[in-house]
Amino acid sequence: MEKKLLFAVDDDPNQRRILSVLLESRGYEVIGFEGGEKCLERLGENPIAVFLDLRMPGIGGMETLRAIKKSRDDLPVIMVTSVNEAETAVQALKLGAFDYIVKPYDEARLVTTLDNALHQNALEHRVRHLQGELQELHGLKGFIGRSLCMQRVFEKINKVKDIKASVLIQGESGTGKELVARAVHYNGRFAEGCFVDINCGAIPENLQESELFGHKKGAFTGAEESRTGKVELADGGTLFLDEVGEMSLRLQTKLLRFLQEKTFQRVGENNNITVNARVIAATNKDLKSAVAKGTFREDLYYRLAVYPIEIPPLRERKEDIPFLCAHFLKKYEGEFDPKVKTIHPQAMELLFGYPWPGNVRQLENTLYRAMINSETDCIDKDALFDVGGNPEDASGANEKKADDEHKIERIGFDPESVPEKIIPFDEIEKRTLANAIKVTKGNIPQAAEQLGISRSTLYRLVKKYGLR
Ligand SMILES: Nc1ncnc2c1ncn2[C@@H]1O[C@H](COP(=O)(O)OP(=O)(O)OP(=O)(O)O)[C@@H](O)[C@H]1O
Ligand SMILES: [Mg+2]
Repeated sequence: MEKKLLFAVDDDPNQRRILSVLLESRGYEVIGFEGGEKCLERLGENPIAVFLDLRMPGIGGMETLRAIKKSRDDLPVIMVTSVNEAETAVQALKLGAFDYIVKPYDEARLVTTLDNALHQNALEHRVRHLQGELQELHGLKGFIGRSLCMQRVFEKINKVKDIKASVLIQGESGTGKELVARAVHYNGRFAEGCFVDINCGAIPENLQESELFGHKKGAFTGAEESRTGKVELADGGTLFLDEVGEMSLRLQTKLLRFLQEKTFQRVGENNNITVNARVIAATNKDLKSAVAKGTFREDLYYRLAVYPIEIPPLRERKEDIPFLCAHFLKKYEGEFDPKVKTIHPQAMELLFGYPWPGNVRQLENTLYRAMINSETDCIDKDALFDVGGNPEDASGANEKKADDEHKIERIGFDPESVPEKIIPFDEIEKRTLANAIKVTKGNIPQAAEQLGISRSTLYRLVKKYGLR
């Protein structure tokens, strides 16, 4: 195995020798330099750390340090100083040196400092690597949208990602609001900090404030420990206020104060804490009408909506459907044997015809279930029968379903639509069927389910009356 390389820069040959002996006995390879210039020339040999004397002829320690940091920002530099140089050594720390040791140094201290530097360096590498992975995961790569309106959303994400302006993301349930929020964070400069999300709709009102701002031990019954709030955790990063429309008016006031002054107090404490975080809020509610109703503060609305991003519902961008389908097939194909790889054109037609009240999330779930139902590597209409015609549990979907059922029933049996003269059963049956097909936009499984007959019966009747 190749030995790990260290550089020791000192104009005093004795010092270089001491360092070499000491460090080589611990398994490192050490190259000594009598000045900064030579050391800089050989940085390409990839040392893992540099010991750098502060006072040297030629370009001094400080200047060498500056040059090292400029070309290899991640290389740990440990300054070697005399007792009376402590002040300069502190300056060196500000310039990015890891630490300093004072001559004549204690052997144990020297080794500990080196170990710490290497350990911290390894951690920083890991963090950078993980940040890259997070960006990959939450970046725009897995974010599908070929339609013009989604392209506009991407443009907006790119415009706002590095700017501190508050972003308000609005869109129906399942349109990808959280995805947009994460893309704004992980692609921009706030990715250095954390993405901290809080779902304002999921936390009981009395706990919202402590969740957001933290509390002091004993601040209220049950507060057995002090707790840091989400706002504080988001310092330097992004605070994502999901379902912000559900926030109580009391908390809205506190949030507004924080947005205006950048300071807040933990519950049960008096001192102000300052936090610098970018705020992204999301809602599927119409906040403007909430403002009109008095359930949402107008001033807060304007604070949050400095940069609004509207995500259109899936039914208004159906051209995205095939690309989303391909994306989800790929996402889940590994779970199935044989792999489900394609969608039959007729099945695709069904997917196109459906209004998707639960938007992309509903499409994803529908496809996943279709993959489970599928017996071959191709999703055909049959695989979608159980799901495509069975709107999801999203509330919008349920309303839609109830509405449809209502309409289907009325046409067949509402006396109002049947005038005085007698109508033959066949005629009523035909009208009922025609209406069911119209209401479900030709979705036979859905029509069959709502009519309470089997699919095969419906197919037979459709044929009998020549309805297609
Ligand atoms: N454009 C897209 N490309 C790929 N996946 C998407 C897209 N939009 C949404 N999704 C997926 O759909 C699901 C729902 O997205 P997300 O949770 O972001 O929606 P939401 O608007 O926050 O929904 P809700 O209002 O219910 O909280 C997620 O699994 C997400 O990965
Ligand atoms: Mg969401």
